[in-house]
Amino acid sequence: MRRLRILVLMHAELVPPDSLEGLPEEEWNRWKMEFDVLAGLESLGHEVIGLGVEDDLRVIRNAIEAHQPHLVFNLLMHFHDAGVYDSAVVSYLELLRVPYTGCNPRGLLLAGDKALSKKVLAYHRINAPRFALWRRGKQVQRLPSRLRFPLIVKSASEHASTGISQASIVRDLDQLAERVAFVHRSVGTDAIAEEYIEGREVTISVLGNERLTVFPPWELSFDSLPRGAEPIATARVKWDRKYQRKVGVHTGRAEDLGPELEQRLPRLARRIFRALDLSGYARIDLRIDAEGRPWVLEANPNPDLCFGEDFAESAETTGIPYATLLQRICGLGLGYRAPWKG
Ligand SMILES: Nc1ncnc2c1ncn2[C@@H]1O[C@H](COP(=O)(O)OP(=O)(O)O)[C@@H](O)[C@H]1O
Ligand SMILES: [Mg+2]
Repeated sequence: MRRLRILVLMHAELVPPDSLEGLPEEEWNRWKMEFDVLAGLESLGHEVIGLGVEDDLRVIRNAIEAHQPHLVFNLLMHFHDAGVYDSAVVSYLELLRVPYTGCNPRGLLLAGDKALSKKVLAYHRINAPRFALWRRGKQVQRLPSRLRFPLIVKSASEHASTGISQASIVRDLDQLAERVAFVHRSVGTDAIAEEYIEGREVTISVLGNERLTVFPPWELSFDSLPRGAEPIATARVKWDRKYQRKVGVHTGRAEDLGPELEQRLPRLARRIFRALDLSGYARIDLRIDAEGRPWVLEANPNPDLCFGEDFAESAETTGIPYATLLQRICGLGLGYRAPWKG
């Protein structure tokens, strides 16, 4: 690929220093992805301009006018503190007619809404847990007749396991009402309660716009969870490295899935990617129950791109090193057929 001028958009508080050296883990852990992406793009020989973004669109527009980038590398996850505005920022980039990496606005909107995405998947007969939604301000009065405990209560629109802990799994109406109110109050979004699927937790990474590359299924497991704790990806499991070591969090190639699932899972990941109109790169979260049935938990467009995390690791096992992966993501950004291109 020719040398590109790439404007990397990231949250202002996550703009990394030039080196990780001498910094404590809790510090660099926050902006490791930004650091890895900037370094990776530089290693490819591109002209890389990092831009910290707060809540002002003019900063983006000015930088685009000043630098005339060939491509925006989009690492923004929210705007005005709202996850649902991730798609609005990308819409803005399309209106400015700049190519960008990652998912298009419609895919972000569909996949970012945990209720709407499951409705779309149901149309495609893709198996997802049954659920109910409580808008902000609505209290739980009774259990919808189609739902069975245990349920797991989550934000309907936030990611990164925001608001997810062991207390998210509820086993009666009182716990459900309490946890829905908790999500409304402390996450500040609508709340969704899904049937809790016991089983193995597997994620599948997908790269592409029209032609898709699917990486091998990746599994999350635990060596030493405390007794009584369910093996779920809580916020601590995802982000707290000390806690990860304590409970022995493991991620790696899902072994012994059997020939049928090995065949079926990549096809399923592709169908989900297409059903939700995703583009660029995404990770599909699934659970496999005791009968070997896959259930989709959610699709994550623009997933974590840290070197050494699930997406990059599973790509690496198929012979795509980190820098090459970033290069492919750039190529997909340039190639995406946005409506403004005609
Ligand atoms: N229906 C479910 N059954 C079992 N576990 C679930 C279910 N929904 C979520 N979880 C657990 O909670 C984690 C986070 O949920 P997820 O829907 O992926 O939200 P996020 O967008 O925050 O990643 C999952 O990785 C899984 O461990
Ligand atoms: Mg998830």
